[in-house]
Amino acid sequence: MKNIVITGGAGFIGSHVVRLFVNKYPEYNIINLDKLTYAGNLANLKDVEDKPNYKFVKMDICDFDAFYQLMQDEHIDGIIHLAAESHVDRSIKDPFTFARTNVMGTLSLLQAAKLYWESLPEKYEGKRFYHISTDEVYGALEMTHPEGIPAPFSTKASSEQQHEAYGEDFFLETTKYNPHSPYSAAKASSDHFVRAYHDTYGMPTIVTNCSNNYGPYQFPEKLIPLFINNIRHRKPLPVYGKGENVRDWLYVEDHARAIDTIFHRGKVAETYNIGGFNEWKNIDIIKVVINTVDRLLGRKEGEDLDLITYVTDRLGHDARYAIDSRKLQAELGWEPSLQFEEGIEKTVRWYLDHQEWMDNITSGEYEKYYESMYANR
Ligand code: NAD
Ligand code: DAU
Repeated sequence: MKNIVITGGAGFIGSHVVRLFVNKYPEYNIINLDKLTYAGNLANLKDVEDKPNYKFVKMDICDFDAFYQLMQDEHIDGIIHLAAESHVDRSIKDPFTFARTNVMGTLSLLQAAKLYWESLPEKYEGKRFYHISTDEVYGALEMTHPEGIPAPFSTKASSEQQHEAYGEDFFLETTKYNPHSPYSAAKASSDHFVRAYHDTYGMPTIVTNCSNNYGPYQFPEKLIPLFINNIRHRKPLPVYGKGENVRDWLYVEDHARAIDTIFHRGKVAETYNIGGFNEWKNIDIIKVVINTVDRLLGRKEGEDLDLITYVTDRLGHDARYAIDSRKLQAELGWEPSLQFEEGIEKTVRWYLDHQEWMDNITSGEYEKYYESMYANR
């Protein structure tokens, strides 16, 4: 495969995928297709923008004609689709934008790819449509194991230990879809469309469902970068509900490595779950972040714990997500490379060292959004 479109490449995860592919595969032409919504930021890709195998195209994935033209002009062989509206809180306020981009945008890409690839003599041979999705489509798991073993974990446990405690209470590739938020409902719908294009037209598709990512370049509306920035400025940390919801955290570069592995070696029509076997209660992770920021800023560790402010819960807040990624580990040999302690230290350090990146985002329009988001909590 030579000519690859990565959609949403100016966003958080997309920028890591673009960087990995541009640097690792000089023989590929990598086209970063992004509308540059509030979440898209070309500053995330400064280090690769001058590489000869990289090109940026500003485009809305809902623009069928423009994308169909691009497929033809650039002889696209592969699509790695990350562009989406990605923030659950925004989806609760504005579900239509999520349906438009995540559902109609994905459908538009699929149909344009179908028309172009089916017009070629080789048709789908050597082609691939890889759709990046989320564990949120599976719904929510119980907070405690049915036999009463206390959950969740607040320190790193091995996957074996986690399995021992939770039994099979994880999201598997076969788990029935049961999305709850407008965001996850829209992602679920897009996943169904991707699979339908394989089942109906024979398009070589792959879907992966990943757990919560953290790391550099994440937009500071998401828990970890938002809280790092607030701690630095000694602003309140809005913890939803009791802070007991559980998420499974994966370092973003590990997700990008998984995407590389699956794009090249994954089986067509398969689904792979990607996760860190790294479950944390929100409140526990928040305390780790506070201690780490304090230490790295030369403050007394724990000095900023009093910034924790319990606020009204997110509507429909899913209790627990936990991915079982043993299929990916067994079949393709991928596994997370970073321990959480190491990953969080790297992440906090990165945000503190890149204040300009953060300040450029958190001034102006963002400030207005943030205030309106939290005004009535
Ligand atoms: P993000 O919000 O940081 O980035 C999304 C990117 O998509 C931005 O660059 C934005 O400009 C672009 N975009 C949005 N609408 C567009 C449109 N209509 N046309 C073209 N570009 C558009 O998102 P992220 O956190 O990097 O997530 C990327 C993908 O990974 C999403 O599909 C998301 O559902 C999925 N995912 C995210 C996580 C996570 O923890 N962040 C976990 C699992 C899966
Ligand atoms: O699980 C994968 C998903 O992870 C991705 O599909 C989404 O795109 C991504 O945004 C993320 O969704 P979450 O809703 O889990 O992430 P978020 O960072 O918004 O919140 C993480 C947890 O922290 C969640 O339980 C809500 C809570 N939270 C979040 C914010 C922003 C707070 O308590 N306070 C906050 O201010």
